[in-house]
Formats: sequence, structure tokens, C-alpha cells
Amino acid sequence: MNLTYFGHGAFGLEADGHRVLVDPFLSGNPAAVTDPGSVTAETILLTHAHNDHVGDTVEIAKRCGSTVIATFELANWIGSQGVKKTIGGNFGGTIPFPGGTAKFVPAWHTSSYSGSDGVVVSGVPAGYVVRCGGKTIYFAGDTGLFLDMQLIGEEGLDVAIIPIGDHFTMGPDDATKAVKMLHPKLVIPGHYNTFPAISQDASSWKKQVESQTDSKVAVMQPGEVIELQGGQ
Ligand code: NI
Ligand code: MN
Repeated sequence: MNLTYFGHGAFGLEADGHRVLVDPFLSGNPAAVTDPGSVTAETILLTHAHNDHVGDTVEIAKRCGSTVIATFELANWIGSQGVKKTIGGNFGGTIPFPGGTAKFVPAWHTSSYSGSDGVVVSGVPAGYVVRCGGKTIYFAGDTGLFLDMQLIGEEGLDVAIIPIGDHFTMGPDDATKAVKMLHPKLVIPGHYNTFPAISQDASSWKKQVESQTDSKVAVMQPGEVIELQGGQ
């Protein structure tokens, strides 16, 4: 399975010919090097409604005929924008998609989309435990640290993708505590260095995590793809 980092909170999965995008914020993303017209997706997972996560979802979904999975209120709003296939779920629920499943787990954050007339949709944010291509991957979305990450760790994570940027989410020290509860084989930091407010030194965070836990850290550059193989 291939995992792509597009910068900020935007990721892609490709397994068994199925393509999934998570929070595809590409146009207007200072960290992104990928044009939204160059990506395709059968399935798009949204963690919450903030503009830096919904991003190019509507455009991509219309062009590709993608199914958009999100919490109920956000899925309804995406549907109201002309996206034909949406699935609204909620916490504890597991939603099947072609090639895998996505389970809604909590995230401590807020959720709203701002249009030119102000806030047009609100609701609650989520994270996902995705099973796809023989791997179990936790997408934390935007969140602070919370003790129930222990329960998410019981899912048996191959990969955890967690924010380290601080200011809007947990910062590096709390993210290290998160790794200790999640105990993934591999952890990938996200949601940092996009804007000055979330500048972080990911390589020093990698040293901190790898000296305090058994998890390996992969610091990815926007546009980078890694292949997840057995035992990783
Ligand atoms: Ni957010
Ligand atoms: Mn965000």
C-alpha cells in the first residue's frame, strides 16, 4: 500500500487499485505541491469542516464521482454542494468503502466551514481508524491530547498520523504522550509548518519519540509517497 503526504493534514492511500484521500486541502495550501486536478479518489474521508481540511473536496468529488465520508452534518452540507455520493456517520460507527473500512473516533477540536457569508456548516470533528490494504491506520485529524487515545491504541495500529503543530492542535510534547498511548509501529507527523503559527522541528520530534518509545517516526515531505509493507 502507498501512503502519500500532500502537506498539512492532507493524505492519500492507494491499495489494491483503490484510492482514498483524507482532508484534500491542496489549492490554497502553502505546503502543497500537488494540483487538485491531478489527484483522483474513489473515497474521500473528511475529519472536520474547517476550510484547511475540506479544501478541494467538492471539486474533486464532482470530477471523480467520489463518495465523501464525514460526520453527519458535514456530509449533508457536502451533498448540498452538488456531490452526489455522501455517507454521514458518527462516533463508534464503521463505514465500509471500496477497499477498506473507516471507523469514526473522537477528536478534541471544533468544526465549521466558513464561506463568503460566514459559517455555513458546523458539527463536530472526528478522527478515523482506517483498515485498508492489510494495514490499520489512525488519522487523528486536528485534536488535542486525550486519554481515550488508549482505546484507539487497542485497535493495533500499524500507522498513526497525528498533528504536532501546536496552537490549533497538540504540540510536540503532547504528541509524544499520544504516541505512548497509541503505540503504533510507525508514526507520521502532520499539521505543522504550513503557516508560521504551527512551525515545528519535526526532526527533533522524531528523535524525542524514538528515544522514548518503540515507535518509528517517518517525517514526510509534501508530495512524498511511502510504501507500507509487511512488518512496518
Ligand atoms: Ni481544524
Ligand atoms: Mn486544521
